[in-house]
Amino acid sequence: MQSIHIPFKEHFFNESERADIFAGQGRVFKCLLGDETVYVKKSERTKRHFWHVLQGGLYKVFKDPLLIPTVLGKDEDDIQFQVDKMRRLKKNGIKVPDVVFVDKGYFIMSDCGECVKEYLKLNPRQTDLVLNKACREMAKLHLKNFVHGGAQIKNFVIRKGVVSLIDFEEKIDTKFIEAFKVRDMLVFLLSLERGGFQTDIKRLCQIYHDITHKDIYADLKKFFKKYKWISFLNHKIFDFLSMKDVRALLNLMNRFNG
Ligand SMILES: Nc1ncnc2c1ncn2[C@@H]1O[C@H](COP(=O)(O)OP(=O)(O)O)[C@@H](O)[C@H]1O
Ligand SMILES: [Mg+2]
Repeated sequence: MQSIHIPFKEHFFNESERADIFAGQGRVFKCLLGDETVYVKKSERTKRHFWHVLQGGLYKVFKDPLLIPTVLGKDEDDIQFQVDKMRRLKKNGIKVPDVVFVDKGYFIMSDCGECVKEYLKLNPRQTDLVLNKACREMAKLHLKNFVHGGAQIKNFVIRKGVVSLIDFEEKIDTKFIEAFKVRDMLVFLLSLERGGFQTDIKRLCQIYHDITHKDIYADLKKFFKKYKWISFLNHKIFDFLSMKDVRALLNLMNRFNG
């Protein structure tokens, strides 16, 4: 692990030191700040990925908020956006990393542990317990009228039994908050399906309901009913695409429609 020397709080790095420190590192990396482990996250101007483009197209056809692409505007500062959101969430009692330092092009946050996805691969017997905690944290987020926008299991981390949410890059128009709550849960469950986690969906929806009083199971069921037609994607003709995501979606759909 890289050790970063910070002589004085206000002067984390001068420009030349920073270039050296960041050289060869990925966009997000763990390092030592003094004797504390922290994560550095660098800016990435949001690209319009294939999925965003596809989603945009689908939205135009179906006018379903669940399909609205979530991207920051051209001139928006992605670092400031994430930092502001994390600070607001923290104030609202949601478990997110502490923002330690912000500078142009990057920010530093506290280390909130291991990625839940990796953690559960090593500790499969804790699957239900940890997923319950993750689900509860997301429900708390929704109860406060925030949404995540990318609630895959890889964006949950765990440290000393505490599950936190990370990675707040998605900008969501406030008028779509309710629809995005459903989408968060959908993305979460889909990532579990995709990751091969065996867990009881109804139990997770119940945990969510206990906190938010929102019948997310019924909402998801409605969603899958609406999009039942996409099961045509399962046809052999699409095999060459090796669409793991599509198959995960169809499996999940079958669980709701079954
Ligand atoms: N504060 C943190 N505590 C622990 N792990 C983190 C933290 N921030 C990032 N990570 C790790 O780095 C990975 C990538 O960070 P993330 O913010 O999700 O960026 P990306 O936009 O690349 O998905 C995460 O999946 C997680 O494993
Ligand atoms: Mg991430």
